[in-house]
Amino acid sequence: MALFGESIRRIAQKMQACEEWIEMKRDLREPIDPGKPPLNLHMRWAEKEDLFAIAALEGFVKETDFMEESLRKGDRCLLLEEGKQLRAFAWATFRDFKMALWYTLKLPPGWSYLEYIFVHPAVAGQGVGSYLLGSLLLAVRDQGFSHMVAGMYSNWDVSIRLHTRMGFRDHRRLTQCKILNIFPIPPKEGSGFH
Ligand SMILES: CC(C)(COP(=O)(O)OP(=O)(O)OC[C@H]1O[C@@H](n2cnc3c(N)ncnc32)[C@H](O)[C@@H]1OP(=O)(O)O)[C@@H](O)C(=O)NCCC(=O)NCCS
Repeated sequence: MALFGESIRRIAQKMQACEEWIEMKRDLREPIDPGKPPLNLHMRWAEKEDLFAIAALEGFVKETDFMEESLRKGDRCLLLEEGKQLRAFAWATFRDFKMALWYTLKLPPGWSYLEYIFVHPAVAGQGVGSYLLGSLLLAVRDQGFSHMVAGMYSNWDVSIRLHTRMGFRDHRRLTQCKILNIFPIPPKEGSGFH
């Protein structure tokens, strides 16, 4: 009987796929050094007219209405351009952020969340992401914020390196499992904000 129970457990484990989501945080009161601007890139804040190019840079073109709505609600997106070509962007929000059906990231006062940072593959690995993220940290700090949170899957090595280099530290880990890789099981949470 015990053997039968063990077999069932093994089958259930095989049907289950788990991913680990890491949240990292940056204390903006600590020194921030974006370094020198790499290449010949020009930095500016995104406007409504840039949203289509931002969506296209990620490799897919989608409805930009919700992005426009997010900008209206106070999100900021920093851009790096080479001539007229968009090369990178970093999108930050200052409101609670719905990550999934089961999880909304609640931001305490003074906290911000880096929704996404993206660098075009043609200029990746040359310090563009670090410079952009460092510049965003400075800008957000100068607007009076004390912390920024970022999230990524634990196997996104480049993203973890980028954030670590720019002073982010491990904050919280969530394990999300799905049965048959479809049905989500409520995640196991680590510690809360500290
Ligand atoms: C993550 C990303 C923004 C990094 O931008 P980037 O301009 O390449 O970053 P940088 O050149 O400033 O490098 C930052 C760190 O990543 C490392 N890195 C960059 N490209 C790498 C690669 N292909 N392989 C391994 N490490 C790499 C750098 O060595 C550096 O780490 P180090 O200081 O420990 O050496 C970019 O790769 C990207 O857009 N990826 C796809 C989207 C994504 O994953 N975004 C993050 C969402 S959380």
